[in-house]
Amino acid sequence: MTVYQRMGEVPPKRHTQLRRDGRLLTEQVMGMEGFSGNYSILYHLETPCRVMALGGFEHLEKKEWVPDQHQHMLFATADLDAIGDLVTGRRLLMWNNDVEIWFCRPRETHEGYYRNGEGDEVIFVHQGGGVAETIFGDLTYREGDYIVIPRGTTYRLVPDGEQKYLVFVSPGQIEIPKRYRNEYGNLLEHAPYYHRDIHPPTELKTHEESGEFTVTVRVRGGHQRYLLDYHPFNVVGWDGFVYPWTFNISDFEPKSGRLHQPPPAHQTFEGPGFVICSFCPRNLEWDPQAVPIPYNHSNLQSDEMIYYVSGNFESRKGIEVGSITLHPYGIPHGPQPGLAEKALGATSTSELAVMCDTFRPLRLGDFSQTIANPDYMFSWYQPPAETPAEPGTIA
Ligand SMILES: [Fe+2]
Repeated sequence: MTVYQRMGEVPPKRHTQLRRDGRLLTEQVMGMEGFSGNYSILYHLETPCRVMALGGFEHLEKKEWVPDQHQHMLFATADLDAIGDLVTGRRLLMWNNDVEIWFCRPRETHEGYYRNGEGDEVIFVHQGGGVAETIFGDLTYREGDYIVIPRGTTYRLVPDGEQKYLVFVSPGQIEIPKRYRNEYGNLLEHAPYYHRDIHPPTELKTHEESGEFTVTVRVRGGHQRYLLDYHPFNVVGWDGFVYPWTFNISDFEPKSGRLHQPPPAHQTFEGPGFVICSFCPRNLEWDPQAVPIPYNHSNLQSDEMIYYVSGNFESRKGIEVGSITLHPYGIPHGPQPGLAEKALGATSTSELAVMCDTFRPLRLGDFSQTIANPDYMFSWYQPPAETPAEPGTIA
């Protein structure tokens, strides 16, 4: 994030003394790209290096499903059971070296605290709300929020009601697209959202209590647990450019045009090797000759994942809330037969969907096999009337 924030108590100058009850507090710089990127400075009651005991390390095994054939995929998540928590309940849908996409419908609150030490996270909240308690302070979250959590942020989500998330994790930095910002970090006039739509923590709670606190940290492809004898949220103040924030998908200002607007018009975030877009309810193209539905396209250099959140999905057959499509490189996709004709004259769409386009192929988690619809590839197939044939596999 590129806007300076400050909460709680910080000394007038960097790297100078700050005391509480006569005790010198511990300054910590959390920075990106060595000492050259964005950073924040936090002031702790205890040194954040202090660890009472090391817990176990658990490797995060990514089991891959390689389908027998290269094809378009459709997955259903609507009826999945709630399992685990914010961390253990993550089910890996797909991933590559740039981004991981997880589905999470947690059954319980995460015990202890969590920190991703090797990736930025964006949690799209499909269902539920609550409070994201973080070392930078509390953020309330609600349905439709993207919770943006920079790596290194210790946090936990305290849910209120049923929860359903789509979680993106990237070893690169997940950012507001550069083309939306000027050189000072100010969001430009044409950007689909503004600083007021971005919500940093609202309340910093300094926890002074001692006890036993577990922090689970994702590092070296797994989870390492650390046991502390102080509360990890013992920060009295911080300032800087690195902190978690929320942005609600309903605050994305959708673009419409005389003719069809391609996905970059809907871009919301970017990371190295991928983009995240928000398809929001909007008026459709108004030229009398316009076809108000996506044209067929070949993703020559990308895989395209779409998670369908709500509304009607006019351009796809067999899609319901919670469906996920994956249209990979090498083969074209577009509206199924008849949908373009049917869409003519439509003036608006109620679709709400989150898309992730990756510039390198995605691999599928073995969990995806359990929710895959094998017939989707043939949803474009219409046998000629004179030679009816069943779609299927050829030798
Ligand atoms: Fe597409």
